[in-house]
Amino acid sequence: MTEIHTPRLLLRRWHGDDVPFMADINADPRVMRWVGDGSVIDADTTAEDVERWEEEWDEEGFGLFAVELLGSGELIGFTGLSWTEFFPEDLPDVAIGWRLGSQFWGQGYASEAAHATLEFALQDRGLDRVVAVLRTGDKASENVARKLGMVPERETTHPVHDFPLTVHAIDLSEYQA
Ligand SMILES: CC(C)(COP(=O)(O)OP(=O)(O)OC[C@H]1O[C@@H](n2cnc3c(N)ncnc32)[C@H](O)[C@@H]1OP(=O)(O)O)[C@@H](O)C(=O)NCCC(=O)NCCS
Repeated sequence: MTEIHTPRLLLRRWHGDDVPFMADINADPRVMRWVGDGSVIDADTTAEDVERWEEEWDEEGFGLFAVELLGSGELIGFTGLSWTEFFPEDLPDVAIGWRLGSQFWGQGYASEAAHATLEFALQDRGLDRVVAVLRTGDKASENVARKLGMVPERETTHPVHDFPLTVHAIDLSEYQA
């Protein structure tokens, strides 16, 4: 069982009980503003997503962590890793991503979880490079990526929705410097 403790958070695999809490997060238009095409995600799709995220953990040895507040045990969202193989111009990269309930923004939780996730990727799982594929203009996510030491590398376009994306990246050597 993969679990990471940070000063304030527990990053862990998913439980069935997490689905309604993640569904509330996915139903919030403020949260979804910069995710995909900006549409909210319904509860049935959230349940399917959680099941798929668990399968990805089993297949890849990494995935999206459920992020829980230590103390209260509340599910506050996710940070984690996934393949970006939908970009036809690239070799697949492993991307870091994050999504927290809006009541948990502005407290440093996303960065705390993302730092632990990046360390897990580069040190525990032995990856050489991690990217963050962000919709251009998503300032909150750009801020998290910058604090991780990631740098904007190139612009691309979403293959389905056609909006601009910025690929941020960090290599193991940069992380260790
Ligand atoms: C992107 C997202 C995760 C960022 O969350 P966030 O709370 O803004 O990010 P952080 O954890 O970095 O915290 C931000 C602020 O908390 C403040 N903060 C308060 N207490 C803090 C503490 N103890 N430690 C650190 N920062 C603290 C800081 O001022 C920090 O801002 P700064 O970096 O300008 O100083 C959040 O906006 C989100 O979930 N968005 C919706 C999903 C999304 O868009 N995902 C990306 C698309 S794929």
